[in-house]
Amino acid sequence: MEKIIIFDTTLRDGEQAPGASLNKKEKVEIAQQLVHLGVDVIEAGFPIASRGDAEAVKLVASTIKGATICALARSLKADIDAAYQAIKPAKSNARIHVFLATSKIHMQYKLKKPQEEILRIAVEAVRYAKRKTKDVQFSPEDATRSERSFLYRVIEQVIDEGATTINIPDTVGYTDPIEFGALISDIKNNVPNINKAVIAVHCHNDLGLAVANSLAAVRHGARQVECTVNGIGERAGNASMEEIVMAIKTRRDIYADVTTSIKTKEIYKSSRLVSKLTGLVVAPNKAIVGSNAFRHESGIHQDGVLKERKTYEIIKPQDVGYFGSNIVLGKHSGRHAFSERLASLGIKLSAKALDSAFVKFKELADKKKTVYDGDLFSIIEDEKQVVPQQWQLINFGVHCGTNVVPRASIELRSKGKVFAGSSSGDGPIDACYKAIEKITGIKARLLDYRIDSVTSGKDALGQVSVRLSWQANAVIGRGASTDIIEASVKAYMDAVNKLISR
Ligand code: KIV
Ligand code: ZN
Repeated sequence: MEKIIIFDTTLRDGEQAPGASLNKKEKVEIAQQLVHLGVDVIEAGFPIASRGDAEAVKLVASTIKGATICALARSLKADIDAAYQAIKPAKSNARIHVFLATSKIHMQYKLKKPQEEILRIAVEAVRYAKRKTKDVQFSPEDATRSERSFLYRVIEQVIDEGATTINIPDTVGYTDPIEFGALISDIKNNVPNINKAVIAVHCHNDLGLAVANSLAAVRHGARQVECTVNGIGERAGNASMEEIVMAIKTRRDIYADVTTSIKTKEIYKSSRLVSKLTGLVVAPNKAIVGSNAFRHESGIHQDGVLKERKTYEIIKPQDVGYFGSNIVLGKHSGRHAFSERLASLGIKLSAKALDSAFVKFKELADKKKTVYDGDLFSIIEDEKQVVPQQWQLINFGVHCGTNVVPRASIELRSKGKVFAGSSSGDGPIDACYKAIEKITGIKARLLDYRIDSVTSGKDALGQVSVRLSWQANAVIGRGASTDIIEASVKAYMDAVNKLISR
């Protein structure tokens, strides 16, 4: 059985999804979970893009063990130097990923260079990168719109320079499974030294075909798949890791000769973490990790599943670490049931964190009839907040309604002292945010505000994420509560504390 290398680019291409920026600690937290998940390569970022990203990649490379750590670089010495400096702490597990566009449209309009020069630059870049790490990956960007004979020449020559992985990107999500499968076969048949490198694929989802294209490539000999958790990424996103892995696992009849190292029971947890930290909500109908992925609504289906699960379920929810959102816990549940439930979800907490999570669980169970797994994840994630709480919310009140100017009063604590303030606003949340601004003196810009319900029902937890910018820093703050104004205030306070700690 041959192994398909799972190259996870959630922290690089995934982070290029509009609105999904991650700080250093968040990147490390996701990288750690990716290791638990069993990914082989983590593309941690694009170090030349910003100082923050370079530092984040470096922190990932120095703290994460158990996967190859990769950094992206254009075919420029400065990029390759920055990539190398960032991944150096990963020592023998460091990879540099160099790319250069090979399609006519990119060469003519973006790079403004003829083919021969592109070829020379690619060759020199790989040669330069190879002096720094033995593990060098090359991507001819926009490969699927590149002229075949030129593409073959570039691939052959960069392999001669020592590229160990050749990644074929469908940069603009343009190809289809039949065409892409044929391209992989053609590369194998027309590049004489192709056996010296692993063929990788990197598919975007502009036509909704990223996963199908990646799987077609695997059937034609690709042995590394580039993907992201929840399929997040530039524009319509990248191929979704969980869909590719579960397709390979579920259809053993088709993918009999390949396997991955992914521990599928970690999938749901990884999905939740990435959604929470990027602020990118998973659509309910998203395959594998959407909240409806294992729910049966129609009577016929429910009847079928009760008689024999396999009638309407091709995947056991437990196999992806999803334990259903049926009846879980409520206000009568005790500490034992609570901790057992956490353990079955793969969540381990210290005794102290468990005590405080249990208190929060009880508070929530008083407000809400049923506490679902999604609610538990929210409580636990709150426990993990690591940013120092310079400003803490004591209480808030709002006055609003028809024909009333919304007003909010807020009390915050900082360094043992209590500060109060009030303000009017366009709505109750705006009024709260203005009152917080008055008290803290932090005049941040609200770039984005989102609210989602964590689970279903009228008493569902509302989860708010806000993106604030202040003094050249942008952060995401999150808060959850059954009261959406409280969730909004908590999210804003979380962001304010993060801005201060920056
Ligand atoms: O989509 C793309 O072409 C990329 C490359 C950098 C591999 O992300
Ligand atoms: Zn990409």
